[in-house]
Amino acid sequence: MTYRTPMSAPEISEEDIGLVVEVLRSGTLSLGPYLDRFESAFAGYIGARYAVAVSSGTAALHLCLLASGIGPGDEVITSPFSFVSSANCILHAGAAPVFADIDEDSLNLDPVRAAEAVTDKTRAILPIHVFGQPADMTAIMALAADRGLTVIEDACEAIGAEHRGVKVGRFGKAGVFSFYANKQMTTGEGAVITTEDAAFATLLRSLRNQGRDEGGAWLSHPRLGYNYRMTEMSAALGVSQISRIEAILARRAAVAKRYREELAGVEGAALISPVEGTTRLSWFAAAIRLADGIHRDRVIAALDAAGVPSRAYFSPLHLEPVYRARGYGPGDFPVTERVAASTLALPFHSNMADSDIALVCEALARALRRS
Ligand SMILES: Cc1ncc(COP(=O)(O)O)c(C=O)c1O
Repeated sequence: MTYRTPMSAPEISEEDIGLVVEVLRSGTLSLGPYLDRFESAFAGYIGARYAVAVSSGTAALHLCLLASGIGPGDEVITSPFSFVSSANCILHAGAAPVFADIDEDSLNLDPVRAAEAVTDKTRAILPIHVFGQPADMTAIMALAADRGLTVIEDACEAIGAEHRGVKVGRFGKAGVFSFYANKQMTTGEGAVITTEDAAFATLLRSLRNQGRDEGGAWLSHPRLGYNYRMTEMSAALGVSQISRIEAILARRAAVAKRYREELAGVEGAALISPVEGTTRLSWFAAAIRLADGIHRDRVIAALDAAGVPSRAYFSPLHLEPVYRARGYGPGDFPVTERVAASTLALPFHSNMADSDIALVCEALARALRRS
């Protein structure tokens, strides 16, 4: 099927291309100057002391748990309404993911449910800022302080988002931002971890680079590490993209605004909105919630037949085979299951034309009339 507009599209400028070509011509393709430049620029943007770039958001989450000393016997509380790697990384670290249900408005971890899930094995909370909407970090940080828990923020979808005037990625021990090609900014594949903790940042740099110490010999590996390095091509793309991130976010906010205007006339579908405490939603996707009684998968099929892609974002993680095998099943998290069955993402990218947004919304209106 050729679609009339893509689900997502990276915004690649001539400057981006120029910088990547410059790296290719330089001959230094890994551990070069662009890695440092990107990390400094990213830390500056978030307002964090340290930024450590790695090969993906999944790798970043894995390293954050390892560097926090989380492993076998430990429990980490997280949301079942997310992309799979936010829970998988807990398994990668050898710990046990413990799901807690979400808040119906923010679609993020409900701090009350998270508090109920704490046991004497709980070591950390891993909230996700889903669709660029910050989780309730005021309540989550209070819970973590009260119970002595580490907080790792999965901000993969939320660069620039703010909770009560503070950028996400600045609340927890660490914040993780992904730059996969469907994200607000991209490095192809890649991610950055932000933190205020110097020793934590140093450990992350060692773990991403085969356990080497900074400045140590190439074949000296004081600890078990990984190859989670970001390439220089990616870092150069990151330098170029982060330099215009505010313009990208503004274009995405304008696309979301246009969607909201068009959807005002479409009965049975509502675009996500900032919740109480969100002072800035960073638009990752045009996620909509369908009214009760509408069959979401039929809407997706009707859109597809009209040449419009859409996605059933997200499918509850606790119902994936890996988590069912750990004892989870239908009915465990009613809010997540209700939200997941009625939420979908429409095509969204920073340079989406008004005419394409209108086309998507007309196709949606027709699909809803039929479903
Ligand atoms: C919420 C969330 N967490 C984690 C990830 C993993 O990031 P990556 O694809 O860079 O591994 C993604 C995106 O892909 C995501 O959306």
